[in-house]
Amino acid sequence: MNETTTLSVNYPGGRYEVIVGSGLLPRLRELAHITGPVALITDDNVGPLYAAQCGAVDCVLTVPAGEQHKTLLTVNGLYSQLLAAGIDRAGTIVALGGGVVGDMAGFVAATYMRGVAFVQCPTSLLAMVDASVGGKTGVDLPEGKNLVGAFKQPTAVLADITTLQTLPPTEFAAGMAEVIKHGLISNPRLFAQIEDEGRRLRSMSPARLQTLVSEAIRVKRDVVQEDPFEHGRRALLNLGHTFGHAIEQVSGYRVAHGQGVALGLAAAAHLSARLGYCDPALPARVEAVLRQVDLPTRIPANLPAEAIYRAMFSDKKKAGGRLRFVLLRDVGQVFVAEDVAEGDVMGVMMRDA
Ligand SMILES: NC(=O)c1ccc[n+]([C@@H]2O[C@H](COP(=O)([O-])OP(=O)(O)OC[C@H]3O[C@@H](n4cnc5c(N)ncnc54)[C@H](O)[C@@H]3O)[C@@H](O)[C@H]2O)c1
Ligand SMILES: [Zn+2]
Repeated sequence: MNETTTLSVNYPGGRYEVIVGSGLLPRLRELAHITGPVALITDDNVGPLYAAQCGAVDCVLTVPAGEQHKTLLTVNGLYSQLLAAGIDRAGTIVALGGGVVGDMAGFVAATYMRGVAFVQCPTSLLAMVDASVGGKTGVDLPEGKNLVGAFKQPTAVLADITTLQTLPPTEFAAGMAEVIKHGLISNPRLFAQIEDEGRRLRSMSPARLQTLVSEAIRVKRDVVQEDPFEHGRRALLNLGHTFGHAIEQVSGYRVAHGQGVALGLAAAAHLSARLGYCDPALPARVEAVLRQVDLPTRIPANLPAEAIYRAMFSDKKKAGGRLRFVLLRDVGQVFVAEDVAEGDVMGVMMRDA
């Protein structure tokens, strides 16, 4: 099985291809149409595993793994190393790693010498289905996540699914939260595929994994293509994230993003049912699918609902001081609601108390 799946992404002023398949990294230059010098940016988990597979590159720059290094300080070090390696405006920056590497390398590519070509080789499930498509790049500030950034479209995205074999199980589950989210947003077939696969997901055949990843990317592609600069439809990608971000924050980030999103997806389904927008049986279906991939569905008892509700108002995605929730009418049918009463939000969070 060596066939790849290719999805083209159009954006104002251009287009690029997302290629999903096995054994893509050794074909990096050919598949991404790179002719000039290549600077590979990776982290110290992924680099030792996969940098050598990427063929001849001009330099490999390795940053320490982890969100805490997604900073301007790390970016500064990368600029210096690119200069020292003699990478000029004809160079291409290739991100090899998860979303942290992709966001940071993309920001470097957007700004180094006023911008150089950029290729994404996502190696985490989350980076494949979410972070590597859509052109958003950036770094964190001490005051908050992703507060400095740029839109930078890649010239190609190569999602080599063989790299997922070494992804730690909790990171795989975190990526699955976004895959499930994408199914719920607009791909009932993808959602049904996950339901059918059940607990066998992790040992799925490469062909099925390739389908799952490409279908999840297709959802993000369709949304960002319609709304490249995040003015409208892109808000739908925040399904589960109003609850999720607030839960992460109140837990002091002990609840990781993927788990927060899972809790948020369950809460959004319950809220939709409580308000009469969807079948009362839908929340149980959403919870079952989340549990199948070892994702949580019940907000930990030590996180007070009042604190989570308050934290929702500090999320930068709220519009003009009003909370917005992405709600479900069915699997594959979502909409933005702006007038949800506090009592309903609290009621959903305290549903098992
Ligand atoms: N730009 C966007 O649109 C967008 C969207 C969603 C998330 N993000 C960003 O993405 C980041 C999260 O991405 P992530 O979940 O990939 O985190 P990550 O980059 O920290 O990767 C998770 C962990 O898995 C390791 N890893 C990655 N691939 C591996 C592999 N194949 N084998 C073994 N280990 C591997 C990494 O070294 C890291 O320790 C956040 O910073 C978030 O803000 C950006
Ligand atoms: Zn997310």
